[in-house]
Amino acid sequence: MSDTPATWLPQEAIRRKRDGEALGTRDLQALARGMADGSLADAQVAAFAMAVYFRGMTPAEAAALTIAMRDTGEVFDWKRESLPGPILDKHSTGGIGDLVSLVLGPMLAACGAYVPMIAGRGLAHTGGTLDKLEAIPGYRVQPGPALLRRTVREAGVAIIGAGEYIAPADRRLYSIRDVTATVDCIPLIVASILSKKLAAGLDALVLDVKTGNGAVISDAKSGRELGTRMIEIAATAGLRVSAMLTDMAQPLARSAGNALELKEALCILHGEKADARLMEVTFALGAEVMVLGGLAADAAAARTALAKSIATGAAAERFARMVSCLGGPADLLEQPGRYLAVAPVIADVPAPHEGFVMSIDTRALGLAVVALGGGRTSPGQAIDPAVGLDRLLLLGARIRAGEPLARVHAATADGARQAAQSVARAYSIGGSAPAAPALIERIEPRA
Ligand code: URA
Repeated sequence: MSDTPATWLPQEAIRRKRDGEALGTRDLQALARGMADGSLADAQVAAFAMAVYFRGMTPAEAAALTIAMRDTGEVFDWKRESLPGPILDKHSTGGIGDLVSLVLGPMLAACGAYVPMIAGRGLAHTGGTLDKLEAIPGYRVQPGPALLRRTVREAGVAIIGAGEYIAPADRRLYSIRDVTATVDCIPLIVASILSKKLAAGLDALVLDVKTGNGAVISDAKSGRELGTRMIEIAATAGLRVSAMLTDMAQPLARSAGNALELKEALCILHGEKADARLMEVTFALGAEVMVLGGLAADAAAARTALAKSIATGAAAERFARMVSCLGGPADLLEQPGRYLAVAPVIADVPAPHEGFVMSIDTRALGLAVVALGGGRTSPGQAIDPAVGLDRLLLLGARIRAGEPLARVHAATADGARQAAQSVARAYSIGGSAPAAPALIERIEPRA
């Protein structure tokens, strides 16, 4: 227990935050503890999140909240495992069709890294890696610490949820933010991501800060601010972090939805041709963290090793090992169709007229997946792994009237109709191809 005074009341700390005061370390420790042990009511957690949303936090407060949330659980020390490679990870702030983690985790493992990747569930309109992995029957997204250690040792990668023992405060806060419009808040994102990453005992981390209309933080200036704050707070806690700003003004993959994205990731691991944008983001993030963690001398060497991990099948083999260690089927990669759910209704979304895809309301695509049942509208809600969108057209694509903009996978014909309307509204078709938005920008630490 901390030395928080017996007279400390959560509602008073929430009131002070609501009125714009900076909270102290003890306040933030008590709030984090209350989130983790359940003594704080959902309403209080939501009120705290909303107060932070409107009032913000000083850098010192954000750092204190991060550490307080980290310390609600275990902090991993991998030294006792004597692993022969660095402990690396990447984390994204979330987007649509962002399946990079599913592909990059095993690629890094195949290159000699060890990747205890603490991933999240869908957040607001964005997809979540854990929800995608739960599309695999039997896959345990919340293994205990012993199984996490064994999977990292044997497969080189374990993509799992934080569970009860890694920053449990974040698990609660995250699920409440998801449904209370408090996701797009820099200090809460910083604390959420870094509390888990610091607890995972990493040597180096690369952050993928998404920007654009499908991102949690849509404007580039705030994205840069988020990246810089994370680099600074991580550095004070002894973790090397690099951050990249990457484009989310359109989906990153061709699909959005849990089993659908998983299927696309398996195709990439099998060496099938993938979208250039998706692969460029994957390689750029992978190379960055390999150099940062000392696994490659430079970006060119890292890219060569990453490409080899796909070409030789080594990354696919690491993914298969991870799935089997964590309780999933041993032959998932050979027979995905046997295990991944398929929606009963699959329908094309026709283009209303001829032209080029001028812009995409990417957030609306994510919300269409949520409305189909692929995301949540209340904490802990069950989701349907089979639903979503695929064959998504990307910016600049030329299309004739009636040709498909995308395909909808739905549980019912009515759901498919509504989703098709939302998808059609999300695409703007015009007379000329737009300039492609910049894909990747490195976020430089403040001098
Ligand atoms: N990913 C997280 O883990 N937390 C956030 O708040 C946003 C993205």
